[in-house]
Amino acid sequence: MKTIIEPFKIKSVEPIRFSTVSEREEILKKANYNTFLIAADDVLIDLLTDSGTSAMSAKQWAGIMDGDESYAGSRSFFRFERVIRALTGLKHVIPTHQGRAAEKILFSIVGGAGKSIPNNTHFDTTRANVEFSGAEAVDLPTPEGKQPGLIADFKGNINLEALASFIENVGPKNIPLCMITVTNNSGGGQPVSMANIRAAKKLLQPYGIPLFLDACRFAENAFFIKKREAGYADVSVRDIAREMFSYADGCTMSAKKDALVNMGGFLALNNDDLARQARNLLIVTEGFTTYGGLAGRDLEAIAQGLEEILDEHYLTYRLRSVEYLGDKLTAAGVPIVLPPGGHAIYIDAKAFAPHIPPHRYPGQAIVCELFRVGGIRSVEIGSVMFGKYAPDGSLLSPAMELVRLAIPRRVYTQSHIDYVAEVVLEVFAGRSSLRGYKILEEAPVLRHFTATFAPL
Ligand code: F0G
Repeated sequence: MKTIIEPFKIKSVEPIRFSTVSEREEILKKANYNTFLIAADDVLIDLLTDSGTSAMSAKQWAGIMDGDESYAGSRSFFRFERVIRALTGLKHVIPTHQGRAAEKILFSIVGGAGKSIPNNTHFDTTRANVEFSGAEAVDLPTPEGKQPGLIADFKGNINLEALASFIENVGPKNIPLCMITVTNNSGGGQPVSMANIRAAKKLLQPYGIPLFLDACRFAENAFFIKKREAGYADVSVRDIAREMFSYADGCTMSAKKDALVNMGGFLALNNDDLARQARNLLIVTEGFTTYGGLAGRDLEAIAQGLEEILDEHYLTYRLRSVEYLGDKLTAAGVPIVLPPGGHAIYIDAKAFAPHIPPHRYPGQAIVCELFRVGGIRSVEIGSVMFGKYAPDGSLLSPAMELVRLAIPRRVYTQSHIDYVAEVVLEVFAGRSSLRGYKILEEAPVLRHFTATFAPL
């Protein structure tokens, strides 16, 4: 087989700024060793997130000019609504400025004290919005999903046995909805199988518990189903995506991922009463029902992006370019979550730096070193992001300590990725000299965004 190539040519480029190791040591110190606090101009290769960092296509930019900025009833809204309805089959389409705004509206209505929301794994903002409403966010990953080195096709699945006993224990009336995150971002970007979504729906239905998809990366998930799940090899990704959504009563979406835009999101659902309440809240917090927190041009770019994301040449290139980085790291013995997920490579920090205990933040140590050595910005997904304190003040750590190298869509070329692999290998070679970190200051929620650190 020939090399899988980028299915696009580059029309517009952005320079990146080179820096030296000693400059980066200063930059790190000034940012208190939190890569969220580094100015983007000081970053050489930015793998902090795949969110809002996509390169838009010429057609999307044309849509930006063509956007209708009418306050009410914008033509761009109707295109947005038409595309999302055709894709999801969901009746009510409510634009929001990004994914977490959809989460905020949804959980303000259905959440609250005494309620519980199960999910394969909540992303940080989803968990924060559930908890902010007073409800409890419960992760139900499968046992395979918790083993970074284990190779399996659908490690993102929700644990159906755990879900069944959870419903029995908590009681269906306390579960306003169940979520499934596709792909499972906090669980390593791993996909969820169609069989799992279907079975979850079947389990929830008799109890009257609605199923919602956190659909940020639905197209990557759909393509994994096509490649890995029996019976789907000859089905188009569009039809696979449609089937995924057919089991859902609603979804939240950050368009900043699989809609290939820099800003945007939506909430889509079937329940008329819930939609009415959501629109009332939307008007107070986001904007009128036909724009949410977005400009008409954003709606236009999202509609176009949702068409482009289902191109199978794009998805072939997308999944292969992530896997390519994974293959290079694996070949050199770097421990990563296997198999590579759809949007990122996740380094297994526990295996990479076993001498640093979770409460000394091994992931943060690797994140800082990747920046110091190569100007690469990544993010810790472990005890910094998800750590909680026990009543005695000790740290309660999540199951995995990961470092995510998220690949922006259509932004970096193969040589950028080759460079990233070289830097990771250099840091890996010097891993025994990595030292842990302590937290100096932190916020009560989502502490990773603003926490300050000091090396030990
Ligand atoms: N759900 C998932 C699975 C996500 O990955 C994100 C964002 C959100 C919800 C929230 O969407 O940012 O538009 O408000 N994830 C980004 C990331 C930030 O880096 O993984 P948002």
